[in-house]
Amino acid sequence: MAKKIKRIGILTAGGDSPGLNAAIRGVGKAALGYFGMEIVGFRDGFRGLAENRRIDLDRSALSGILTIGGTILGTSRDKPHRMVIDGRTKDMTGVIKNNLKKWGIDCVVCLGGGGTQKNAFRLHQAGINVITLPKTIDNDVAMTDATFGYATALGIATDAIDRLHSTAHSHHRIIVVEIMGHRAGWLTLGAGLAGGADVILIPEIPYSVKRIAEAIGRRSKRGSSFSIVAVAEGAMSGDDARIFRMAEKVLKRAKTLNGKLEAKREITALEVRHQGNTMRLARQLEELTHLEARLTILGYVQRGGTPCAEDRILATRLGSACADLISEGKFGVMVAARGDGTEPVPLDEVAGKLKFVSPDHSWVESARRVGTCLGD
Ligand code: F6P
Repeated sequence: MAKKIKRIGILTAGGDSPGLNAAIRGVGKAALGYFGMEIVGFRDGFRGLAENRRIDLDRSALSGILTIGGTILGTSRDKPHRMVIDGRTKDMTGVIKNNLKKWGIDCVVCLGGGGTQKNAFRLHQAGINVITLPKTIDNDVAMTDATFGYATALGIATDAIDRLHSTAHSHHRIIVVEIMGHRAGWLTLGAGLAGGADVILIPEIPYSVKRIAEAIGRRSKRGSSFSIVAVAEGAMSGDDARIFRMAEKVLKRAKTLNGKLEAKREITALEVRHQGNTMRLARQLEELTHLEARLTILGYVQRGGTPCAEDRILATRLGSACADLISEGKFGVMVAARGDGTEPVPLDEVAGKLKFVSPDHSWVESARRVGTCLGD
């Protein structure tokens, strides 16, 4: 028979996202009130486990947080196996394992995106009882229908596109709006569709600036002298995509440590160069179309504020299902959203994988049908 779980730990890692507090509340209230467990919060992601940054999550701490943005626990991108402690990078996995034993914590709930799933999987492999929930505004965690945070960010980005239309049509301008998403284009595609962007550029579909300019030119000829270009942070031209692919191939093939480091440096340099991409795109479109072009970067506005109803429901559903699984002693899994229900998915099926937009996804097809340019 599985050991009775008495005390659970919970942490939030990676970027903050709407719905994190709703999920903490969902796990906590079900664990405390329904299953009679004790719950301890760890501050600042995995660092909290290594440095004993603990807070007790009693009923009053879990009350009144459903609608609050960010995370009451704080977050960080620290990795358990590569954590900077007193200026030196250390593997803290063993320390974390001992700490949890010492404090009588039977399992740790990790709320986060792709990076967090990977880190949680490493802890699971080290023999720690972990269970995860999928959060991110990018909606790119593998093996789940949805991640909390996405629906709220989608609403914010859509609202931004609606508002940008005012200036675009009044001044006859091209407005390039940069939306979050380095690897996956769900947020840009969703907001672009919902906001009626004229051009949608996502990382999964490399673009040609010439084709975009031609599409904008066709709109001008039809009497629409403005255009909204919704572009994901990670979208890139066909040429840049080839350069990145080459650099990634070099990294994969590198046999020596030096070779690997060199290839990683090259990729970092390319990423740094890519940061000004949307600004460059706006300039290129101005040159090619002879229309004024402006750039708006939505940035962290997309991650902030009150979670929408959909995210609150999803976070509560996943959180309470998580408490159920803990009570059954089921660990090493992510609680995935599956239709109206939830499903435990083994972490090895999630870690290191991302959910991308397939170029023939129905949203892409619908965008094309209504005349949106995808840049290809
Ligand atoms: O939460 C995911 C995400 O918002 C990505 O879309 C974005 O690229 C990244 O986090 C940036 O976050 P930060 O600046 O906090 O590292």
